[in-house]
Amino acid sequence: MTFEYSQEFAKKQDQLDPLNSFRDKFHIPKMNGEEVVYLTGNSLGLQPKNAETYINQELEDWKNLGVEGHFHAKRPWMPYHEFFSESLAKLVGAQPEEVVAMGSLTNNLHLLMVSFYRPAGKRNKIICEAKAFPSDQYALASQARFHGFEASDVIVEIAPRAGEHIIRKEAILAKIEEVGDELALLMIGGVNYYTGQVHDMKTITAAAKKVGAFVGWDLAHAMGNVEVNLHDWDIDFAAWCTYKYLNSGPGSLAGLFVHEKHANSKNLNRFAGWWNHNKETRFNMRQPFDVIPGAEGWQLSNPPILSMAAIKASLDMFKEVGMDAIRRKSEKLTGYFEFLINEFENDKIKVITPTNPKERGCQLSIQIKDADKKLHQKLTHVNIITDWREPDVIRCAPVPLYNTFQDVYHMVEKLKMILNA
Ligand SMILES: Cc1ncc(COP(=O)(O)O)c(C=O)c1O
Repeated sequence: MTFEYSQEFAKKQDQLDPLNSFRDKFHIPKMNGEEVVYLTGNSLGLQPKNAETYINQELEDWKNLGVEGHFHAKRPWMPYHEFFSESLAKLVGAQPEEVVAMGSLTNNLHLLMVSFYRPAGKRNKIICEAKAFPSDQYALASQARFHGFEASDVIVEIAPRAGEHIIRKEAILAKIEEVGDELALLMIGGVNYYTGQVHDMKTITAAAKKVGAFVGWDLAHAMGNVEVNLHDWDIDFAAWCTYKYLNSGPGSLAGLFVHEKHANSKNLNRFAGWWNHNKETRFNMRQPFDVIPGAEGWQLSNPPILSMAAIKASLDMFKEVGMDAIRRKSEKLTGYFEFLINEFENDKIKVITPTNPKERGCQLSIQIKDADKKLHQKLTHVNIITDWREPDVIRCAPVPLYNTFQDVYHMVEKLKMILNA
C-alpha cells in the first residue's frame, strides 16, 4: 500500500479502519486535559471499559453470596477459568485443555522448567537469547543452580552479530546443531521485548526437537500481538502474561500452555498443590495426590477471580474481533509508523525492529543516537506516552485495538519537533 506523510491521509485511514469502533471500548488516559497518544501497550495495555462491569459483577456476588459464590455466583468461581479456556486456546492455536489462566509469568516459567528442564548426563544445556528479558535470565540461571550447575556451565546464549540488533535465525539453528545431543532445553522469547523481533518459532522448535530437546517459549510480547500455533508447531510449553496486549490490568493473572502429548504424563516432574489435584475429589481433602490431565495440571492455588474477570472482559473482545483482523490492522498501522519515521530524514534515528512485517508484531524500537532519558520525558510532556530502554531506545507499540493512524502521525511529528529543536 502507498502511504502519505500527512494528517489528512492518517485521518482517512482511521475512517476506513474496520476496527475503528474498538478504540471507544477503552479508557484512554488524559494529561493536561487531553487524551494522550498511548504507545505503551507492550508494557501495560489500556483498560477495556467492560472490565469494570465484569469485575463489579464479582464484587456484587462476593458481597451478596460470600463463600457461596464459588458455586452460585452468576459465573461460579470454581470453574471460572473454564469460561474462557476456548477463547484463550484460540488465541494461541491450542486446544482448550492445553491452556490455563494461572499464576504469574516468571512463576509459570519456573513451574514449567520443573517439568521440562530435566538435565541428565551430558544433556544439560539450555539455549536462550543473550539479553533475554532479565527475569527470564535470572530464572534460567537459578534453575541451573537448582540442579547443581554454575549457570555458565549450562546456559548457551545466542547474541546478534557485532553491530546488529536482531538475532539471525541461521545463528539459532547453527547453535542448536552445534549443541546437539547436549541440548536439554531451548527457551526464548517469541517476540523480543527490546527489539520487537518475532522469532520463527515453528522452524526453531522443529530444529531443537530434532536434537531431542524440550522447547518452551516466553510469549509475554507475543500474546494478543502476533499469531501463534503452539499445538501445530509441536511446542512443549509456553507461558505469557496478560497485562500487555491482553489488557487485563497491572500484575493480572498470567497463563500457560502445555502440549497435549504431555497431558497425561503423570510421571513428569512437577510441583503440586490442591489446585492441580483431581477436581472431583479435591474437597475430600485427604486423597493421595491425583494430578489433573492437561495444562490445569500445573496449577497450584485457587486463582484470583477479580483478575480473571478482567481477563474474561478482554478475551470476549478478542473473540469478537479475531486475531486475523488484529494482525491485518497491525501490519498496516506499524507499517505506516515505520514509513513516517523513514520519511523523517535524520541520521540519528534508526528503527532496530525488523522491516519485514512477518518478523515483527506491532512494536517498533527506535534507536536514537546520543539521546538519553530526557528525550522520553520531553515526549511525555507533549502527551506522547512511549517507553525508554537504556541505553538509547524508545519502544512504541501502536496497538490495533485502540491506537489510530493519527496517533502514530502525532508521535512522529512531536519527535521531529523535539529532535529539531
Ligand atoms: C519477556 C518477558 N518475560 C518476563 C517478564 C516478567 O513478567 P512477570 O513480572 O509478570 O513475571 C516480562 C515482563 O514484562 C517480559 O516482558
